[in-house]
Amino acid sequence: DAAGLVDRFGRMATDLRVSLTDRCNLRCTYCMPAEGLPSIGRERTMTADEIERLVRIGVERLGVRQVRFTGGEPLLRADLVDIVARIAAIEPRPEISLTTNAIGLDARAGKLKAAGLDRLNVSLDSLRHDTFEAVTRRPFLDRVLAGIAAADEAGFAPIKLNAVLLPGVNEDESIELLDWALEHGYELRFIEQMPLDADHSWNRRTMVTAAELRETIGRRRTLAPDEAPRDGAPAERFAVLDGGGRRLGTLGIIASVTEPFCADCRRTRLTAEGDVRSCLFSHEEYGLLQPLRDGESDAELADRWRAAMWVKPAGHELGRADFVQPERTMSAIGG
Ligand code: GTP
Ligand code: 5AD
Ligand code: SF4
Repeated sequence: DAAGLVDRFGRMATDLRVSLTDRCNLRCTYCMPAEGLPSIGRERTMTADEIERLVRIGVERLGVRQVRFTGGEPLLRADLVDIVARIAAIEPRPEISLTTNAIGLDARAGKLKAAGLDRLNVSLDSLRHDTFEAVTRRPFLDRVLAGIAAADEAGFAPIKLNAVLLPGVNEDESIELLDWALEHGYELRFIEQMPLDADHSWNRRTMVTAAELRETIGRRRTLAPDEAPRDGAPAERFAVLDGGGRRLGTLGIIASVTEPFCADCRRTRLTAEGDVRSCLFSHEEYGLLQPLRDGESDAELADRWRAAMWVKPAGHELGRADFVQPERTMSAIGG
């Protein structure tokens, strides 16, 4: 059973995103409602053993080569370091990365590095205390910055920063964020807001688009398209140059809405409760956790995973008038 995770459109998923929990200690407006969401709870959340088993099946039988841990907030798992270490022991060793809000990272960055974490992406939407709180509904900017500094200290490089720009909230902060990232040697990515929030606040007409951003930033900084092949990555990358043409660093723009990269999608996802999601915008999920708990074999679980991916949609339909937002919010998918 050497077949990988292929779909009807000939794409092959080699990049696995695993949500470790649906809980979070922030309440970003583009992701969760102010009051939070009921969690699936401990019993339905995959244990470290179960995560290891499923990732191992992905790597050994299905061609998964990269594993990214997401949430909710993955640092809320007390066993995160252990999970990373277990995945690092799988052969062939997958590349392991983490997307986090960095709260609490100061205490664990070194241990994560030692356990085998290869790459780190941190959500950071503002460097101003009041704006940070307007986006995340929590006054934790200083804790986030401490986490990023610790990750830097621990040797993660390049650290990528994810900023979702929201109209009327932080959209005027793009240059400030960019300069700060360049100064510290971090790779900033601006992300178009997608309609995966609980409040249904997304508006196609008012959202900040990649084209607007390239123009706003291009007026004040020199951007040159990056020569490296994009290789299915969500981010379009640019070299940021100074007046003399010297490279100051890299900027990424993730234009999921206006310039979709679905045709080249290489991702498969597991939710915290062990459901396969073939696409961020899927309306169907295929449970692996109950069959696993019922004693199915690796081969049977691999077949379920393949079947789930075979029916992956061609792409999202955000441009269509009859677009229906998935029921799950970003916090329950993992981004
Ligand atoms: P790198 O490997 O470091 O480039 O990571 P990444 O950009 O794939 O992952 P990250 O978790 O940092 O996500 C950045 C943004 O890209 C988030 O808003 C994700 O929701 C979005 N994203 C990641 N994968 C996909 C995808 O398959 N489809 C869409 N539409 N957005 C995605
Ligand atoms: N649209 C775009 N990006 C989002 N993220 C969370 N919610 C959304 C959304 N609605 C981003 C966060 C995080 C990454 C995993 O997904 O910034 O860095
Ligand atoms: Fe892949 Fe779906 Fe994202 Fe498109 S919207 S890139 S198909 S996960």
